[in-house]
Amino acid sequence: MTLRERYDIATSHLEPPFAMVDLEAFRSNAADLTRRAHGKPIRVASKSVRCRALLEQVLAMDGFAGVMAFTLPEALWLAGERVCDDILVAYPTADQTALARLADDEHAASTVTVMVDCVEHLDLIEKATGGRTVRVCIDIDAAWRAAGGRIRVGALRSPVRTPEQAAELAREIGRRPGVRLVGLMAYESQIAGVGDNPPGKPLFSRAVRLIQAQSRVELARRRALIVKAVREVTDLEFVNGGGTGSVEKTAAEKAVTEVAAGSGLYQSVLFDHYTNFSGSPAALFALPVVRRPAPGVVTVLGGGYLASGVADRNRLPQPYLPAGLRFDAREGAGEVQTPLLGKAADRLRIGDRVWFRHAKAGELCERFDALHLVDGDRVVDTVPTYRGEGRTFL
Ligand SMILES: Cc1ncc(COP(=O)(O)O)c(C=O)c1O
Repeated sequence: MTLRERYDIATSHLEPPFAMVDLEAFRSNAADLTRRAHGKPIRVASKSVRCRALLEQVLAMDGFAGVMAFTLPEALWLAGERVCDDILVAYPTADQTALARLADDEHAASTVTVMVDCVEHLDLIEKATGGRTVRVCIDIDAAWRAAGGRIRVGALRSPVRTPEQAAELAREIGRRPGVRLVGLMAYESQIAGVGDNPPGKPLFSRAVRLIQAQSRVELARRRALIVKAVREVTDLEFVNGGGTGSVEKTAAEKAVTEVAAGSGLYQSVLFDHYTNFSGSPAALFALPVVRRPAPGVVTVLGGGYLASGVADRNRLPQPYLPAGLRFDAREGAGEVQTPLLGKAADRLRIGDRVWFRHAKAGELCERFDALHLVDGDRVVDTVPTYRGEGRTFL
């Protein structure tokens, strides 16, 4: 039986559009991430899953510990639902209401850690929480710089870059009763989130590999010095780094106590072209064929589920099964209808499904209320996404 036949049979009772997760692929992706982590715990990046039931499944697996959340209201919700007792909000918050709720709730205050990278964050937290103590983590800039800082490769995030800056912020945190430093985080997006083997781009691939290799060396050195400098100020519960694309390399650094990963579970399209790992597509969505405008063309309902980031072709979803379908260059993925071109179109009838993959992992869940969980050739469960639980945090 082909993959497409298996998915069609398993979901034959469902009316597309719908989204599904292939549990076999999901579990094998999770196992591969833990193999790559070499015994260091993986903190699951919830933004890349956005489904409570699947987060719980992952956290029940050996090798995973803790959630990396994307907003404080999300973290408060997960803590309240007892999804996890160690939740790191990986991005700074300016939400005074949520901060006040965090400080008021004893369980949440002992479970949730918020991100800071400047004194202004500390002021804002202390103002909102009225002096009750909140757990904080310092975000470190992990970008790679060259040409005296004129070239920067990597996410533009924290202004804290040197051991001196990190230690100074740690000392300032130590002076304030309203915040307690428990961790450091440095996310090397230029390694963890950039494929080093894009097809048909040998020169670009070589340049990416070169920069990633240099960045890895620079960051490993700097991260070790930063951790040492901050540990001289205070004890740390964790040092977090990495993401799906860098798990084995980040985990190998002595100074790092845990890695983060999420996208590798669903194995979304943007994570297809890495030399160090290859996951199995686990999260798909099915759209129905609703017209056949001409030979070699079918039109499906929906499809315009673009991923965030720089607006280029890489943000489009991928027509996955049957193989051999592509978007029309003038229409792309449409708001309501999407024409698909290719020989495979002639073998599709109205009412058939086309299976797609999203470019990014968790954003798929902002489009669908539920995920149908497929094991073998049947749907074994249907679970709500964050959106399906009425929780759209971003
Ligand atoms: C702080 C941080 N850590 C880790 C990750 C890696 O997550 P994923 O494995 O889903 O790419 C991200 C992704 O953007 C991130 O922002």
